[in-house]
Amino acid sequence: MSSTPLKVAVTGAAGQIGYSLLFRLASGSLLGDRPIELRLLEITPALKALEGVVMELDDCAFPNLAGVEIGDDAETIFDGVNLALLVGARPRGPGMERGDLLSANGAIFTAQGKALNKVAADDVRIGVTGNPANTNALIAMSNAPDIPQERFSALTRLDHNRAISQLAAKTGAAVTDIKKMTIWGNHSATQYPDVFHAEIGGRNAAEVVGDQDWVENTFIPTVAKRGAAIIEARGSSSAASAASATVDAARDWLHGTPEGDWVSMAVVSDGSYGVPEGLISSFPVTTKNGDWSIVQGLEIDDFSRARIDASTAELADERAAVTELGLI
Ligand code: NAD
Ligand code: LMR
Repeated sequence: MSSTPLKVAVTGAAGQIGYSLLFRLASGSLLGDRPIELRLLEITPALKALEGVVMELDDCAFPNLAGVEIGDDAETIFDGVNLALLVGARPRGPGMERGDLLSANGAIFTAQGKALNKVAADDVRIGVTGNPANTNALIAMSNAPDIPQERFSALTRLDHNRAISQLAAKTGAAVTDIKKMTIWGNHSATQYPDVFHAEIGGRNAAEVVGDQDWVENTFIPTVAKRGAAIIEARGSSSAASAASATVDAARDWLHGTPEGDWVSMAVVSDGSYGVPEGLISSFPVTTKNGDWSIVQGLEIDDFSRARIDASTAELADERAAVTELGLI
């Protein structure tokens, strides 16, 4: 393992997710014993709060935290970063859909895409958590023409983890027995969590469940609307689980997926499974050496087809909206 620190940028570092994410990163959840250098970006009014968070990071005396830099200038903070976790964006409140955040948050990702294009390391990987995550990733990607498109992804790992957890609770299986879960489409209420290709203890998950009504009327809406349920219950959006999923996604991207399993990542479509080319849509992917590939050859029945199409149609509408706003 390399002993050179990996330079990891986190935006919105003084926010709710940041307060969990930074400590997970610094304690080794992403890189184990490899040293990590944190580069933390915030808006100017949040820098004082961020200083307090950094004092707490110091106070943990993490053995593998090789340095922390904070600031409000994207080009300075992103300079030479190998991984950029773009979290900073306004969260939705009760009654809003994530797409309502497009105009409020889109502009953040034009500026950050441009800055990454200019100063990030050649091997940079960029994970977008801030909502609406898929289209924000599209905006960042479109504003960074020199960074290969496959270096951008948006977070649907939280949905993936939620789906595994719901399935485990329903069947009594351990979460570790559930493989090949897929989230298709947008990180929104139209997303399609797919049990038909998932496995529980090596058997087809839909067959193990044996209850189409539950899949259609309980499982899918529970996973797709989980973010709203948390906002309703907590009064603010998911934070620790979002941070945990952000770490899971980055770790698997950098270190690879295990044999016989895959993960869900929203990545640029090459037209696979009829998803319009160029959209950032969630797919089943395997990863190796920091690169992902979309799992090919899955049979898509009419039930799944209709749901994938509905979610990707929403992504196409979001792309049209940000094109209209001049963001891409
Ligand atoms: P938060 O409001 O607590 O924190 C956001 C932080 O971003 C704030 O500190 C703010 O100052 C900062 N910020 C705003 N503009 C910035 C900019 N231009 N550069 C750098 N920092 C900036 O919100 P949160 O709860 O941490 O959530 C952050 C985002 O993540 C929201 O958009 C939320 O909806 C999203 N989210 C996504 C998922 C997912 O699964 N994809 C899950 C949970 C939350
Ligand atoms: C989530 O899925 O919890 C986040 O995207 C926050 C939200 O707005 O739902």
